[in-house]
Amino acid sequence: MNRNPLSNSDKSADLLKMALLDEDEQDRYLICDSLASGGMGMIYRAYDSHTERYVAYKVIHPELQKNKAIFERFTYESEVAARLEHPNIMPVYDAGHDSDGRPFYTMKLLKGQTLAKFIQKLKDNQSSSSFENMIEILIKVCDAISCAHEQDIIHRDLKPDNIMIGDFGEVLVLDWGLAKIPNKKDTAIDSLSPSTPSEFSQMGAVIGTPAYMAPEQAQGKEVDPRADIYSLGALLQTMLTFDPPINGDNTEEILSRVSSGQIQSPNTNDLLPESLGEKNQRIPRSALAVIKKATQPESVS
Ligand SMILES: Nc1ncnc2c1ncn2[C@@H]1O[C@H](COP(=O)(O)OP(=O)(O)OP(=O)(O)O)[C@@H](O)[C@H]1O
Ligand SMILES: [Mg+2]
Repeated sequence: MNRNPLSNSDKSADLLKMALLDEDEQDRYLICDSLASGGMGMIYRAYDSHTERYVAYKVIHPELQKNKAIFERFTYESEVAARLEHPNIMPVYDAGHDSDGRPFYTMKLLKGQTLAKFIQKLKDNQSSSSFENMIEILIKVCDAISCAHEQDIIHRDLKPDNIMIGDFGEVLVLDWGLAKIPNKKDTAIDSLSPSTPSEFSQMGAVIGTPAYMAPEQAQGKEVDPRADIYSLGALLQTMLTFDPPINGDNTEEILSRVSSGQIQSPNTNDLLPESLGEKNQRIPRSALAVIKKATQPESVS
C-alpha cells in the first residue's frame, strides 16, 4: 500500500525529528575555555560531542550581534573560509547559530602559536630560527593567498596575528573576516571600511592594526589582489627585521603614515637579527628586493 508522503502523521514526525535535531545540534558543542578574544568574535576550545574531538569554536561577540554589517561579515567569514580548501588555510568543519541566534563556526583546533608570538619570541631571544625557515613560512602563506586569489578572494587583513604556526611546523592562514568576495555586493564591508582617521578609530577595535594594510586600502579605496601582495611584503619585512614597515603610537598615527606611504624599508646594510642567523649577516639582497617590490607604491611613468 502506497503511503501518502504528506500525511499528517508523517509531517508531525518530521517536525519532531527537526526539533530533536535542532536540540541535538545546539547541545553538540561544549564550550571549554577561551583561546582568544578578537575584534569580531571570541575563539574557544570546544568539545564536539558528535565527532568526539576538540575543535576551535569562533562566535560573534554578543554586543556586536545586533550590528547588521558585522553580523553579515561574520557569516561571510565562515562561507569564505569553508570555500577555500588548501593545506595552508585553516579548515572549517561546521557553521551555524547557537541557541541565542549568534552565528558561529568551528575549525581545526591548531596546537601552536600565532606568527606574531613566534616573531616576538625571536625578538626577545627566547628562541631561534633561520632566514631559510622564515622564507619557507612566507612561501606557505603566499601559496594560501594565491589559492584565494585564484577564486577572486582578497584576504585584506594579512598580519602576523592572522597566521598560525602549528607544533608540527604547519602554517595556516586564518581570519577571513575582512575578505573581499566576488559577486557579493559589499555593503557590509563598505560600512566596515573607514576612510578617515576618526572613522577608522571607531571601527579600529573591529579591524585591528593597519600596520600591514596597503596604502590604497587605508585610504578607503577599492582594492585588488595587490593589497594582499603589499601585506605579504610587509609580513616578510617583519619576519626578517622584527618590525613592521609602519610603526606608530596609535591607530590614527599608523593610518596617516600608511595612507601617505611613509614606509620604512630595510636597506642593504641592515643585518639579520642574531636569532635568525650568523652574527653580522646581512639581509640578503634578493629578500630586500622582494620587500621593496611588494610594498613600494607604483611609480608613475
Ligand atoms: N583554529 C584555531 N586554533 C587555535 N587557535 C585559534 C584558531 N583560530 C583562531 N585562533 C586564535 O584566536 C585568535 C583570533 O582569531 P581570529 O583572528 O580568527 O579572530 P578575530 O576576532 O578576527 O581577531 P582579530 O580581529 O583580533 O584579528 C588567533 O590569533 C589565534 O590566537
Ligand atoms: Mg584576527
